[in-house]
Amino acid sequence: MGDHAPDGEPPPPEVEPAGRVITTDGLTKDYGAVLALDSLDIVVGEGVTGLVGANGAGKSTLIKILLGLLAPTRGRATVLGLDIAQHGEAIRRQVGYMPEHECLPPDVSASDFVNHLAQMSGLPRAAARERTADVLRHVGLAEERYRPMGGYSTGMKQRAKLAQALVHDPRLVFLDEPTNGLDPAARDDMLELVQRIGHDFGIAVLVTSHLLGELERVSDHVVILDSGRLLRSSATTEFLDSTGTLLIEVVGETGTQDRMGQALAAAGLPCWPQGHLIAVDTTRATTDRDVHDVIRDTACDLGVGLARLQADHRRIEDVFREGGDHVLPTS
Ligand SMILES: Nc1ncnc2c1ncn2[C@@H]1O[C@H](COP(=O)(O)OP(=O)(O)OP(=O)(O)O)[C@@H](O)[C@H]1O
Ligand SMILES: [Mg+2]
Repeated sequence: MGDHAPDGEPPPPEVEPAGRVITTDGLTKDYGAVLALDSLDIVVGEGVTGLVGANGAGKSTLIKILLGLLAPTRGRATVLGLDIAQHGEAIRRQVGYMPEHECLPPDVSASDFVNHLAQMSGLPRAAARERTADVLRHVGLAEERYRPMGGYSTGMKQRAKLAQALVHDPRLVFLDEPTNGLDPAARDDMLELVQRIGHDFGIAVLVTSHLLGELERVSDHVVILDSGRLLRSSATTEFLDSTGTLLIEVVGETGTQDRMGQALAAAGLPCWPQGHLIAVDTTRATTDRDVHDVIRDTACDLGVGLARLQADHRRIEDVFREGGDHVLPTS
């Protein structure tokens, strides 16, 4: 594929407002027996966006529609400012796709496979070879790149799938369950890679998982699907709003934590032990003074060292527990 739009495709329109990479408007996919997407309105920006939902929520269907591989039943969507109904090829030239299921030819090495796809995307032979070596190094497959992929571990296969999604230097990548089948250490490595792609390489990322906990760690924004409907779309920081609780860690001999707790309570700060920390409920404080000043002065009066003083943040999964029915697995 080259830089020119193929015959039959209208010229690309003006790009969308800055920072907006995906917009959907009433997007619906009815498979007949299943309504996989139900009037979905979402906006995805630069950076890393986590697309979360239980099995069957519609994550893969959404990605395939955005790539122009599947037609929606109703509704519209744009990717990088291009309408999916008219510009499928132009979208696929600028977007990388790591599919959910295994798609690697077993007798081919990662190096040959990725190099082949790089040339298919229009890169000249020498540039394709260079990009292939770079991208395999970035995903951590440098050593094994000449071995047939049929002998790869699940972690290596996921890395090879990721490499082919990045080789043509896309502006946006869709990563469909990149942590699937990985052990905890490999999962952490993959999540770190996803974050680097979004932040260091400057490629917008839409990454799916059914685990809220892992996407919370790497996403700037989280979109949550529930049976094809949008449950919530927020900046990750909004999920992590402060609860109004402060956590304090004190240093000193045995009993220091109890003494500090009693003194804080006497100073008008309701508190309770939480492991080796003291939790202070600032929303029920009965002092007019700044809570941080009261804590500092109390520690000073007792001759106690303060090792830590921080706001307690809710995690996304806690937001869901409070929400009632929509509890998703988190680990
Ligand atoms: N080709 C198809 N024909 C009929 N139904 C389909 C088809 N593809 C998906 N579905 C159904 O649409 C719904 C959404 O499927 P989809 O694969 O998009 O979910 P998902 O969120 O990616 O799930 P998972 O986490 O299991 O990958 C499911 O109920 C699924 O059974
Ligand atoms: Mg899926």
